Amino acid sequence: MRVIQLGTTAYADSLFRAGELIAAARQGVAFTGAGISAESGIQTYRGQGGLWNTVDPKFASIDYFLSDPAGYWTNAKERGGRLLAARPNLAHEALAELERLGHLAGVVTQNVDGLHELAGTRRLVELHGNGRTVVCLDCGASEPRAGVQARLDREMPPRCRACGGGRLKPAVVFFGEQMPVRAVREAFDLAAACDLMLVVGSSLVVYPAAEVPLAAVEAGAPLIIVNAEPTPYDELAAVVIAGKAGEVLPELKRIAAAA
Ligand code: APR
Ligand code: ZN
Repeated sequence: MRVIQLGTTAYADSLFRAGELIAAARQGVAFTGAGISAESGIQTYRGQGGLWNTVDPKFASIDYFLSDPAGYWTNAKERGGRLLAARPNLAHEALAELERLGHLAGVVTQNVDGLHELAGTRRLVELHGNGRTVVCLDCGASEPRAGVQARLDREMPPRCRACGGGRLKPAVVFFGEQMPVRAVREAFDLAAACDLMLVVGSSLVVYPAAEVPLAAVEAGAPLIIVNAEPTPYDELAAVVIAGKAGEVLPELKRIAAAA
């Protein structure tokens, strides 16, 4: 395992080493976390400036939501606005290009911001759902979050239009909720079959999501980690690049495409 800092010759060597591994991949999988969207203006949860450093994670639990939907939506309003305004950055675009070039079979993301889809990734597994959609807990109807966000000033908590009053919740997995079974199965199938696992912007501390890269390593795939801070999996990686996803990923794509 080699951890390198931006701007050193070791950094250039490791970029090249990682780029070569990507160039050789035909069934690679990218596993992403909040760090890949940091440069799109979306706050991460952990590490420097992380949301959980100042906000109690209980506000993202299903028990809290059910006990106080208005409290949840009041807290979530500003973050929801930033999520809807966010656009993919160069890292999201680099992963979509690596899929087009045939090096990635797909992206497994913990993110709910929808930026991989907007960047053009076609095979996308959203382990924690998608925050751009809202579902009704009482009738199952769904609607775009943008419409709900627009009426929060006059409707708190927002109510379902389809059934005339059901409780609306973002279509994301709250702490204490089941993960989407099909997405989890697809993620582990991709990991078991991949010939490269590229982790970008995740602290790798939330389970079962963090088991996906492990499954790839156990299946014999080389692991590359691109993250701003050390992770618990660094020892398992062929290459660890400490840096910003928006700077590193375009470089990796350039090296892989030129190989
Ligand atoms: N480029 C690369 N990495 C970055 C950047 C950046 N620009 N900015 C921050 N990071 C790193 C941080 O150092 C941190 O290690 O990204 C990582 C983000 O970790 P988390 O905030 O824990 O995000 P994630 O791993 O996706 O969390 C998993 O936890 O709270 C739940 O449901 C939530 O999906 C989330 C899950
Ligand atoms: Zn309803």
